[in-house]
Amino acid sequence: MIKDNINLERLPQHIAIIMDGNGRWAKEKGKYRIFGHENGVKAVREVSEGCAELGVKFLTLYAFSTENWNRPKMEINALMTLLVKTIKKETDTLMKNDIKLEAIGDRTTLPKDCRKELEEAIEITKNNTKMTLILALSYSAKWDIVNATRDIVKRAIDGEIALDEVNENLINNTLTTHKYPHPELMIRTSGEHRISNFLLWEIAYSELYFTNVLWPDYRKEHLHEAILDYQKRERRFGKTSEQLV
Ligand code: IPE
Ligand code: IPE
Ligand code: MG
Repeated sequence: MIKDNINLERLPQHIAIIMDGNGRWAKEKGKYRIFGHENGVKAVREVSEGCAELGVKFLTLYAFSTENWNRPKMEINALMTLLVKTIKKETDTLMKNDIKLEAIGDRTTLPKDCRKELEEAIEITKNNTKMTLILALSYSAKWDIVNATRDIVKRAIDGEIALDEVNENLINNTLTTHKYPHPELMIRTSGEHRISNFLLWEIAYSELYFTNVLWPDYRKEHLHEAILDYQKRERRFGKTSEQLV
């Protein structure tokens, strides 16, 4: 099994995934796009379980981007309904697996019932410790950076911080992702090679992994393959190979 080849001492602490390809998966089967979204839930369960089993501490899933609000109303509504239903249904599994749910993104733009379910699940699972599952919902990296900038400028105007205190650390700590280590591994499914406004600051030194598998087909074995690939890479952070040994 591929899983047995994974070095548990060198696991990424944080994996971020752009779950893409639901629409194309459904289209291949002659079905509506939402059928693809519905079938993507199983993949979410698989990677969450897969990560928790191995001992990955943080998993961030890109579920809905700021730009996704531009999709047809019908698809947005169906996605939001699916989200409410899924969060409700999966809370027990999160409890059973000791997984804490958190979210990044602009919650104020979510429909009321969706926000309520999300906040309830976050509250119920808040003391779980095995892994943190972070849903990026109505999220975009630029949204986060703009808000952080506003916050910093306001504190500067109010005299709380001086200009020379604006540094990498301050920016990092002002982003909504400040509680999490930066992802060492970022995965995108469906064969697209782009970031689509997902974590920008945080992936400055992430290893990127792309696969043609469409999200509803994504299973634990695919996750294991990605982690194995990650473990074969040399992360130099600007240094030379020789300096690393
Ligand atoms: C990803 O699948 C899910 C969301 C963006 C919500 P898509 O819906 O983008 O599927 P494709 O890319 O059109 O196949
Ligand atoms: C990115 O997928 C957003 C999510 C997976 C939630 P998209 O399918 O929306 O991205 P683009 O439009 O192809 O870049
Ligand atoms: Mg897509």
